[in-house]
Formats: sequence, structure tokens, C-alpha cells
Amino acid sequence: MYERSSVGELADTLRRELDRYSPGGKLPSSRSLVERFRVSPVTVSRALAQLVAEGLVVTRPGAGAFRAPPRAARTPAGDTSWQEVALSADGVGDLVPRTVDASGVTVSLAAPPPGVVEFNGGYLHPSLQPERALSAALARAGRRPGAWGRPPLEGLPELREWFARGIGGAVTAAEVLVTAGGQSALTTALRAVAPPGAPVLVESPTYPGMLAIARSAGLRPVPVPVDADGVRPALLADAFRATGARVFVCQPLFQNPTGAVLAPDRRGEVLRIAREAGAFVVEDDYVRRLVHEDAGQLPRPLAADDPDGVVVHVGSLTKATSPSFRVSALAARGPVLERLRAIQVVDTFFVPRPLQEAALELVGSPAWPRHLRALAAELKGRRDAMTTALRLDLPELAVPHVPSGGYHLWVRLPDGTDEAALTAAALRAGVAVTPGRPYFSAEPPAGHVRLSFAAVAGTGEITEGVRRLRTACDEVLPGNRSASGIRST
Ligand SMILES: Cc1ncc(COP(=O)(O)O)c(C=O)c1O
Repeated sequence: MYERSSVGELADTLRRELDRYSPGGKLPSSRSLVERFRVSPVTVSRALAQLVAEGLVVTRPGAGAFRAPPRAARTPAGDTSWQEVALSADGVGDLVPRTVDASGVTVSLAAPPPGVVEFNGGYLHPSLQPERALSAALARAGRRPGAWGRPPLEGLPELREWFARGIGGAVTAAEVLVTAGGQSALTTALRAVAPPGAPVLVESPTYPGMLAIARSAGLRPVPVPVDADGVRPALLADAFRATGARVFVCQPLFQNPTGAVLAPDRRGEVLRIAREAGAFVVEDDYVRRLVHEDAGQLPRPLAADDPDGVVVHVGSLTKATSPSFRVSALAARGPVLERLRAIQVVDTFFVPRPLQEAALELVGSPAWPRHLRALAAELKGRRDAMTTALRLDLPELAVPHVPSGGYHLWVRLPDGTDEAALTAAALRAGVAVTPGRPYFSAEPPAGHVRLSFAAVAGTGEITEGVRRLRTACDEVLPGNRSASGIRST
């Protein structure tokens, strides 16, 4: 953090001083900048690199850094309004209009304003990420022979093997493709198994990023309700019958947002129902490595118990590492595997080899199991801190299920609560929460918010965030009088 800000400060100072030099004039040497500003050589070279990127400075190997020649005048902004017409013409003739809306995804990717408690984050706080192990893995990966060469299109064989072993059952490395993060794997999977205009059965509620993928592919999401034991099989069978859908997207483990785990007696039923409908199950196994210390034995992925190739499995490393560690896998059996492979190659060629090598280095290092153990303990502590704080400070909010994996709680708001007003009031009070509405592909039964406990700095922030949410609830919940700030409870 200190390093990053000193780079910025030095770049600002040098930028201000550039006027002292004529274009082409030589800047002081790196060594003299190190001495004058009492910073490290790395800071100097990163500050200079920033100015080079801005086009203000040029460097010449062996000669030093120079003020860049003045920029050519920018082309004045033209009239882009023609694009509105061009982009709207896009969907003419489509059965289901394709809509590209990233808001459901950006809500958990965007950094909140400074000072705001981040209950809306979808990834681990930097302090929980295995930063040192990742850096070491990346450095070792860069030194591996052929690290910058082209990898096999399906992925490095050892990494495919590692993912296959993680899934278990009879899944082999030959049935695994290495992909660039769960989001991209889900996109490939949905495009492979459903043509534009087709219905796709989704859990309700479910991950808005997946709904966004479906809509941008011209698919029609059809909700199937989830309860505390995962998707309800009778309603799933009804939905297949009513729609003729050929795909159901399911998160059997720590479902996002409810945290539900598909009950043992439902696992076989879901596969049987899909098989009878001649449909695929896309299994989004997004947080298998994000378990809490008290989770006990996890059920294995549906793909491990699927001889007939019903399941297209998605597993990702990002949630347990860093959002930037975009390494994931698709696993499937039968002709669909070739379809997946072709789409992945056409869309992206392959996952950058250095990243695949780094993934192998990371998961093969002793730091990996250590990280997962520490993470499990930390997540349990945070989950407990959040549930305790909610029970004490916000008893009127219902937490129907406390999960033993994943990174968030799904909270039902009292009937009649204006969900949008509450999320806005929360932000004003200094806590960012994720609104529940985008998780429903049709009308929701109630207002909800999702509260993440992984993206904050620690349990102190969790307590403070819940306190701020209390302030927002005092303002917005039905029966609470905002003007006087008096609560009705
Ligand atoms: C349920 C679910 N699936 C998939 C993803 C995509 O994750 P990534 O692309 O980082 O693997 C997310 C991210 O929030 C998610 O919540």
C-alpha cells in the first residue's frame, strides 16, 4: 500500500516538474531521483513507467529518460449518435431480444467509495488472498521451460488432471478443459447447450452474472424455486415439461445467494429429471474451496456421479485466491465436450500459459493447503461475527439459512420494505450491500439483501457495517419513523 502511494506521489511530483525541461530534454538519472526523494529504485522505475504510459516521458536504453515531444492535437469529438440506431437494429428478428446488462455483475466487482464498508464484494479481501503464494507461483511459473509458449488448446495436461481429481468419480483429464474463470466457462457452457431463443431453467434466486450471460446469449431464463435443500425437484420436472428446456443451471454447493446445499436425496433426482427431459445440467461449483471450518464432509460434485454425460461441470479457482487468478475448468462427457472445446477455441484460443503454469505451481505448493485451512477458519469467524451482529442489532431481519461455505448471508427483509430505498440508505450510512432483486429472474417473493463477509478487512468492520445497516433500517423499514429516528421495536 505504502509502495503504491509513493509511486503515485513521485509520479505527481515529476509530472509537475516536467515543464522545467524542453521537449527531448534529459531528466535526472534514476540514481539521483532515488537519492533526492529517498525512495527505492523500484518506486522510481514504476513512477517513470507511469509517465511513459501517459506519453509524457520516453526512455532510451542506456541513455536515460527524456521529456517526450508534444502530443499531436487530439481529434475533436465527433457525433456518435448514429450508433444508437445501429446498436438497436441488432436484435431485429431475434426470438428473444439479446440484452447486455453488466449491472448484476459490477455490483459485486466495483470498489465502494472510500470509508464505505464493503458488504457487497464478491471476492476475498486482499488480506485473505494468498498474495505471497500467488506471487511466488507466478515467479516460478515464469521460469518453467516453455512458459511463454503456446499451451495445448485444452489446457496443460497436469492441470486438467488436477481439476479431474478434484471433481472425482470417473472424471478423467481428457474430459476437462482449462478455462479463464467461472464466468467465461459458464458463457461457453450455455452457448454450447442452448441455441438463441431457447429457455434455460435457472434456480430462483440465482447469481445475476449467470442471468446476464443467458440474456446476452438471447436465452430466456425460467426460474425454478430453491428452498433450504436446494432446487425443488417437483417444480424442476414441471418446468422442463412446461418449457421443453434442454438445460438447467444449478449450484448444488453453497448456492449463490441462498447458501443452500442440494440435499442428498435430491441429487439423484435432479440428474434423473434432467436425463428424462433430454437436458443438460450445468453445475456451477463456484465455491468448493471456500468452505468454513465447521463444514464437515462436502458432498462431491454432481459430475462425479454422472455416467451419462448429463452434467457440464464448472469449477473455478478465483473465489479461493483472487479475482485476477482467472483459471477454471469445464468438465463434460460425450459429444458436448467437443462443442465446448470448439466454442472456447473460437472465442479465446486458450488460457495464457503462464497463468496455467502458475496455477500448477500454486496448487502443488505446501502453501496451498495451508492457505485453504487458514481461510476456512477465518471465514467461519467472520460468518459467526456477522450472524451474531445481525441477531443483536437487527433482529427484524431474517437469515433463513446460515451456510457452512461461501462468503455471504442471504437476508430476507420484512414485508413491505422498499429494497432499493434500503440499499440507498445503507450506502448513505456507509455500508454497501447487494440488493436482492437482480437475483430473481421473475417477480421476487420478498425484498432481500446479500451481505458478504469476505471482502471486508476483518470482524471489526463486520460489526461496524451491521451497525451502519441498523441506521439505514431505522430510516427505511416499515414501522420505523425516520424523521424522529425512533424505532418501533
Ligand atoms: C455463482 C457464481 N458463479 C460464477 C461466478 C464467476 O466467478 P469467476 O469468474 O471469478 O470464477 C460467480 C462470481 O461471483 C458466482 O457467484
